[in-house]
Amino acid sequence: MRFIAEQLIPWQKTSGRHDLPWQHRSDPYAVWLSEIMLQQTQVNAVIPYYQRFIKRFPDIGSLARASVEDVLTYWSGLGYYSRARNLLRAASAVVREHRGVFPQSRDALQRLPGIGRSTAAAIVVFAHGKRDAILDGNVKRVFARFFGIDRYPGEPATLARLWQLAEKSLPLDGNPDDTRTYTQALMDLGSLICVRSKPLCCQCPLRAHCIAYTQNRVAQLPVPRPKKNLPEKETVFMIYRNGCKLLLEKRPENGIWGGLWCFPESDFHHDQLALENSSHPIMLPQFWHAFTHFKLLIRPRLQDVHANKVVSASLVWKKPAEVLALAIPVPVKKLIHQHFIS
Ligand code: ADE
Repeated sequence: MRFIAEQLIPWQKTSGRHDLPWQHRSDPYAVWLSEIMLQQTQVNAVIPYYQRFIKRFPDIGSLARASVEDVLTYWSGLGYYSRARNLLRAASAVVREHRGVFPQSRDALQRLPGIGRSTAAAIVVFAHGKRDAILDGNVKRVFARFFGIDRYPGEPATLARLWQLAEKSLPLDGNPDDTRTYTQALMDLGSLICVRSKPLCCQCPLRAHCIAYTQNRVAQLPVPRPKKNLPEKETVFMIYRNGCKLLLEKRPENGIWGGLWCFPESDFHHDQLALENSSHPIMLPQFWHAFTHFKLLIRPRLQDVHANKVVSASLVWKKPAEVLALAIPVPVKKLIHQHFIS
């Protein structure tokens, strides 16, 4: 097991990433914010958001005092908005329950909203130099390939095995610099070399002992999620276009896409728009969107209208580029890119 750390630490120093903006700060607030932003989003997309966010909310107190709307404005475009809501909840909890000081233990961090075991471990490693194992999606892939794990990593027993391997692979001596470098190395390897498709194995410092590589099974590992028959639902997105502007409706706080801006759905009554005139609707290509517990078939229906005003605070007319700056769900973003931005 020591092979991994022995190879990765020097590799990170010569070939890893050293100039990411959050690497210049080791305060737990900055580390936490960057780790949350990086949970489902790639580094290059995160950088400008991280910089704007931390300028506007430089510490936990300023964040805890902010409104959800303000935080969502700085998050909009980054996606997965529950992260932003949890960020605010966690900031309030730290101020209320920990007198504004981030807890230093992984267990206490894990009790805050939005922080799972791997994120909590990354925070204690980067902010406090503790010796602890991470296992995010990229790192699961690295270990599944290296150790030749031939079961789906999301299965509880397999996940437990991966955590064991992650812990056993940590550098032995617990020197904080080594643990930080090792942790960053795993992240860098997972996002630069051991990528999902066409990994760059010839540049990998672990290839000599990597089971996937030596047994020529890189394309088969990790084992993909078994196909489940998810329940299917469907909806119509009513895309009203008034000249160059589109109508968006703020969704209720509860339920799917809570509080996000979306195209009105089938139950929308267009008398709210004071329509003067409208064309026949055109059906745009339908597509599936997968949630964890069901699949949603989205049928987008585009209708040109003339409307002078809207009579509800939860409706806005926006140009396509402006829509992208709102807090919107992924399928809305997809539709804007596919049909309204050339
Ligand atoms: N992915 C998750 N955390 C990261 C970090 N701190 N640096 C780069 N990529 C990451």
